[in-house]
Amino acid sequence: MNRMIVLASRPIGMPTKENFRMEYSSIPEISDGQVLIKSIYLSVDPYMRGRMSGIKTYIDPFEVDKPLVGGVVGKIVDSKNPSFKVGEFVEGRLPWADYSISSGKNIRKIDPKLAPISTALGVAGMPGLTAYFGMVDIGKPKAGETVVVSGAAGAVGSVAGQIAKLKGCRVVGISGSQEKIDFLINELGFDAAINYKSNNLFSALKEACPNGVDVYFDNVGGEVSDLMMKLMNFHSRIVLCGQISQYNNTEIEYGPRFQGKLVTHSILMQGFIVSNYVKRFNEGYEQLGKWIQEGKIKYRETITDGLENAPDAFIGLFKGENIGKQLVRVVKED
Ligand SMILES: NC(=O)c1ccc[n+]([C@@H]2O[C@H](COP(=O)([O-])OP(=O)(O)OC[C@H]3O[C@@H](n4cnc5c(N)ncnc54)[C@H](OP(=O)(O)O)[C@@H]3O)[C@@H](O)[C@H]2O)c1
Repeated sequence: MNRMIVLASRPIGMPTKENFRMEYSSIPEISDGQVLIKSIYLSVDPYMRGRMSGIKTYIDPFEVDKPLVGGVVGKIVDSKNPSFKVGEFVEGRLPWADYSISSGKNIRKIDPKLAPISTALGVAGMPGLTAYFGMVDIGKPKAGETVVVSGAAGAVGSVAGQIAKLKGCRVVGISGSQEKIDFLINELGFDAAINYKSNNLFSALKEACPNGVDVYFDNVGGEVSDLMMKLMNFHSRIVLCGQISQYNNTEIEYGPRFQGKLVTHSILMQGFIVSNYVKRFNEGYEQLGKWIQEGKIKYRETITDGLENAPDAFIGLFKGENIGKQLVRVVKED
């Protein structure tokens, strides 16, 4: 039997379990050129919230009553495609299901000898690439500069901050719990970390950044980022990676108008989507793989067991329940 999670209805505001439903079918049969993949890990990602809204952006929305699709690591269990052998591990955008079929075009092989296969969805996968290209290509941190990362203890933020450390910067993380602050400072080597839920956020930020801020890697937006604007230096760079604080809003939130400061301080503010860099993905995979193997980039995963618990894991992203990459383990690796 094959289980799959479908979008039962479009969330309004914070997603709830009622927006998801488990459906059952037989295990699909493959045709010539196809492979059958058994899912091992699913990735739950904040961008999926946008796809649930039914609005086309850079990517098509999910359809109601159709399976959700996201990053999956799995094993080939049947193959009629000469490029893939039974037993090989692959990663790709696949349905949230126990089993799925691929023509081979939307999957890449992963080598379990290089790193644990789960990392292909996190530090050595899409979130790692996002941190790498956003920080290196747009943030362009230089030794001695001050870099602030919001959403710092998450999949992207934790890698982005460590890359800035490798470039010789003072790195300050913003995150939502004391456990995450301890993780950033004690495990990842950030110079300072601040809980945005505490009082006096602005004075804490000012104290942590006595020379102002040269690069702000923004994963969250909203009021945290409004405060950050006040600290940005001349010729600083703001990397707009994500705005998770806004994803469940039912109305557009208005904030201060800071275009004037962008002008007077010659600040670059640039949004990006990791797929803009698809032609350079191999460079990103190689560099991240090297840093991970050398122990220069550390990572954490939060693993939820059971396909049936994927909706809870997804909703948990918006409550800050994960440290590092949030994954769902569909089956124990065999
Ligand atoms: N541009 C791209 O191509 C691209 C690619 C991947 C991801 N992204 C974006 O990057 C960001 C991080 O993604 P990720 O996969 O690494 O997720 P993540 O950071 O691992 O998980 C989400 C985290 O966001 C924080 N959060 C949730 N609601 C918040 C709120 N209202 N205000 C402030 N923080 C909040 C929570 O941590 P706290 O405990 O700290 O609140 C939560 O743990 C997201 O905005 C995502 O959309 C962009």
